[in-house]
Amino acid sequence: IQAEKAGYKHFMLKEINEQPRAIRDTTLGRVSLDTGKVFLEAMQLTDDDLRNASQITIAACGTSWHAGLAGKFMIERLARLPVEVDYASEYRYRDPIADPRAIGLLITQSGETADTLAAQAELIAKGSKTLAICNVVGAAITRKAQGTLTTNAGPEIGVASTKAFTAQLTALFVLALHLAQVRGTISDEESLHLVTELSKLPGKLASLLNINSPDAPGSSEGVAAPTRLSQNAGHNKNVSFRPEAQSDLSGLTQNVSSRPERSGVEGPPHFATDRRSTTRQPLSAQCEELARLFHTSDDFLFLGRGIHYPIALEGALKLKEISYIHAEGYPAGEMKHGPNALIDESLPVVCIATKDPNDPSSVLKYEKTLSNIQEVTARSGRVIAIAIEGDTEISQLVEQTIYIPQAPELLLPILEVVPLQLLAYHIAVRRGCDVDQPRNLAKSVTVE
Ligand code: AGP
Repeated sequence: IQAEKAGYKHFMLKEINEQPRAIRDTTLGRVSLDTGKVFLEAMQLTDDDLRNASQITIAACGTSWHAGLAGKFMIERLARLPVEVDYASEYRYRDPIADPRAIGLLITQSGETADTLAAQAELIAKGSKTLAICNVVGAAITRKAQGTLTTNAGPEIGVASTKAFTAQLTALFVLALHLAQVRGTISDEESLHLVTELSKLPGKLASLLNINSPDAPGSSEGVAAPTRLSQNAGHNKNVSFRPEAQSDLSGLTQNVSSRPERSGVEGPPHFATDRRSTTRQPLSAQCEELARLFHTSDDFLFLGRGIHYPIALEGALKLKEISYIHAEGYPAGEMKHGPNALIDESLPVVCIATKDPNDPSSVLKYEKTLSNIQEVTARSGRVIAIAIEGDTEISQLVEQTIYIPQAPELLLPILEVVPLQLLAYHIAVRRGCDVDQPRNLAKSVTVE
């Protein structure tokens, strides 16, 4: 088992560090960097089915449900198709409305979650076609789906999902782009821009994690080699990808040469605790320092707005499941409708306050989130902000700032969840918890 951890203390840490490669492998062969076109050929789901779809119903559990919530923002924004997101465990208990023009989208790492399989059965019974986003080739969910988009994250051993989540977000982004192209709701120029930005993500993630980019020369020591699934990307029984879609994602521009954090290797002893610092410090070391400061807290709040709200939920879930600290994810704007009453000087509040300066709706959201942060600090809440590198405004307002690289609004979640994973990891380690196998939890929940 130690060998499988490739020198990392825990599978979770190894899997966090495998994310650049997981994102690259989930994208590879599915997009053209020359034209911006996405190539998904669902064998039993034609372009006409996608064009004429009345809505998409996403059903999933836990972390996969959080990916689904973020996917709703991607699909609605790019493809202008209504999306509803259900807990799979609730779906069939409310006599849902589904029709033959609705497409059911099941998101599951394992493909064996009983609740998600039950939701799929309900969708099929109501006449809907189903698609799956799944990390395991040949899993139960894929056998009844009309198409599967495999996340090529490789086997995930830690009970807390990390690389499968960011791979799901990537697959959802690719699917949203594909739907937009088929439905004619995106220009060629915008497609090419987004595909180019998508191709830069593995490099940005590697830079954030202070490891070598997966495609950098001599990078084998930087990112643990992925454990490949038994089939290649995009070649499962239902979905095939056109050969001309092969692209080398050579836009992986960043190459950071420092080694990943391994057992016994300490990070540098300085962090972005200085409010005036606006550049990124080594992330794992910074999260370790935050863990030192906050690991005795009884409660945490995680706030986000828009597509960043599902990431707040995911940050709270990670902390709950591996550190056993009570944590809640909340939409930032909802605080004034109740939870503000919880704020005092002992409450750490993690706020996702990122923005895409080229996207007016993102900037507006950011400004509103700044006001929400001020409401927290005015009540002595201790704010840890996740912000974009170079943001001078935020670091003046809050106690701690974690910087991430810039990306388009819909891709930011893939970057901003990484510090939340590492924060939960380091807090759990400090509290002496069993990070890879938390109490009362199973990796795959095969009972309803
Ligand atoms: C996440 O960290 C979890 N352990 C859990 O919420 C998980 O995402 C959920 O059980 C769904 O699993 P699946 O993706 O395999 O269907």
